[in-house]
Amino acid sequence: MPPVPDLDTLVWASAAVRRFAAATNLLVAARRFRIVGGDPRDAAALRHLLTALGAHETEPRADRAGQVDERIDQLWCLGSPEESTPAVERAADRPRGSTLIVVDAGRHLPAVDEDAFGPVSPARPGVLAVPMLSDDVFLVSTGRDPEDDPAADARLRWARRSMPVARSVAAELRDGGLLRGTRIGVAMFLEPKTAVLILLLRDAGAEVVVYAHADETDDAVADALRSAGLTVYASSTATLPEQKQLALAMLDTAPHILLDDGAHVIRLAHQERPDLLPTMLGAAEETTSGLRPLRVLAARGELGIPVVAVNDARTKTFFDNRYGTGQSTVFAVLDLVDGLASATHRVRPGGAAVVAGFGHVGEGVALVLAALGFRVTVAETDPVRALQARFAGYAVAPLVEAVGDADLVMSATGVPDTIDLDVLRACASGAVLAVAGGVDQEIAIDDALAAGAQRQPVGPKAERFVFAGADGGPIVLDDGGCINITAAEGNPVEIMDLSFAVQLGAVRMLLERGDELERAVVPIDPAVDDATARAALAAFGSRPGPPGLLAEHPADREPDVRTRRFGDPA
Ligand SMILES: NC(=O)c1ccc[n+]([C@@H]2O[C@H](COP(=O)([O-])OP(=O)(O)OC[C@H]3O[C@@H](n4cnc5c(N)ncnc54)[C@H](O)[C@@H]3O)[C@@H](O)[C@H]2O)c1
Repeated sequence: MPPVPDLDTLVWASAAVRRFAAATNLLVAARRFRIVGGDPRDAAALRHLLTALGAHETEPRADRAGQVDERIDQLWCLGSPEESTPAVERAADRPRGSTLIVVDAGRHLPAVDEDAFGPVSPARPGVLAVPMLSDDVFLVSTGRDPEDDPAADARLRWARRSMPVARSVAAELRDGGLLRGTRIGVAMFLEPKTAVLILLLRDAGAEVVVYAHADETDDAVADALRSAGLTVYASSTATLPEQKQLALAMLDTAPHILLDDGAHVIRLAHQERPDLLPTMLGAAEETTSGLRPLRVLAARGELGIPVVAVNDARTKTFFDNRYGTGQSTVFAVLDLVDGLASATHRVRPGGAAVVAGFGHVGEGVALVLAALGFRVTVAETDPVRALQARFAGYAVAPLVEAVGDADLVMSATGVPDTIDLDVLRACASGAVLAVAGGVDQEIAIDDALAAGAQRQPVGPKAERFVFAGADGGPIVLDDGGCINITAAEGNPVEIMDLSFAVQLGAVRMLLERGDELERAVVPIDPAVDDATARAALAAFGSRPGPPGLLAEHPADREPDVRTRRFGDPA
């Protein structure tokens, strides 16, 4: 049995893994790692955490020809530079093309001597490229603050390198020439990963026009796209009326296809530019909360275009909503909590966390919180999902009861008023509340203010809500915004790689069959899921099993429905 880590070690391991994720914007799950050196208790705590988050450890092993299999994605160095240097050199000596991240996670002293590998240059804040070693090897230090932000171009290159699946789907679109003459409007969180999608579409032959909400715009990325010749309607300082003008200006270019995240621009087109709908092939929508209103519009017969439900693709929901959002929202919350004075809040390792909603997002949030040592209680209104939470090993209770002794409360429902006035009042003083779902008023802030609550800033992006007559009150992070987006960099790159590969698959569907599709929310073609998963498995260095053998004649593929329980049928 590995030694049980003490709280200090758990705190160190949690901070190290979060530093790694913030520096790289990479996912922990699905990666192969190895740990070198360090105190065995530290190594055990780190191993336990990485494994609980879905990564797996590989040991060097020789194949039949005596070749050592060194293919790992991350090398975590905990010991002395003398131990780390040969391990880094061994791991770096491998075929080109797959990224190796060397993580200096020395707990007390640096574990990696950067100078041992020649000159380094920043690839993104906190990530150093080591060209003398290889083009594919990067250094990350969990004990040092990130260096200055390199130009947006470097951040785009970093994202592109980690998006092999979208790259391969875009190359097929380019080779097929399908996109020529097509104008695509992209309305998404404007940061390096989306910029890669936009450039892939452009390079595959489309004309791309871009809109982004002010709070979802990285101005440097918008400028990088403009320098690359794209039309971008976005500014991080745009007021609400200006944002509407920008979105309408994008719509007025009459895109044939819209790629949306939250369905705000699809709905705006229906509200303000209905005359454009007949010339559109359709749209693709990225999120659960965006699909909900579109389904209502479709049921009323008011949806004017087919909308491909990218969100519902298995390669989106099972990975983005679960692993990506779980990691990115919980890490963003704990990073903000680290910036608060410890006396102001109750969040401690091994403390109590409540997750509202056990859909795909809630499942991921609960998984990451449990991996980090929290005792998790799930509050779910759907009894079947509540039962699933119970089988997954969590306590289950109604939200208003569960929050009474919670230190951390996260809403993962995407439903307004999930954390309503009663729940807010039932929270312990110093409990930290945050939103992973992301609709407006998921935490009923307007109701709290109308009921006389006072908001007191307690740190960056953190406010205490104090009701009349109360001594203290819960702390709401970032005004109840979707925390991985408003306070961090969105989802990890590999996750967006999958989602964007599905978006590209949806574009292909609309180009090939848009005319035949119903004006409804239409499911993604299962072939898109299949192709996306195969490309991702290949990028991760794995292969699926061979497809089952198919009988030659369709009639022979039917199962024999006769029972043989009573002997062979006559
Ligand atoms: N932050 C992100 O990056 C990100 C990524 C993907 C999805 N999302 C958003 O997260 C939200 C959830 O997505 P999902 O795929 O898990 O959806 P889902 O519909 O699968 O799950 C939501 C769950 O919440 C439950 N629920 C609803 N109201 C509740 C309440 N008041 N109390 C407790 N439980 C309640 C539902 O029964 C359901 O099981 C959506 O709004 C989605 O758009 C955010």
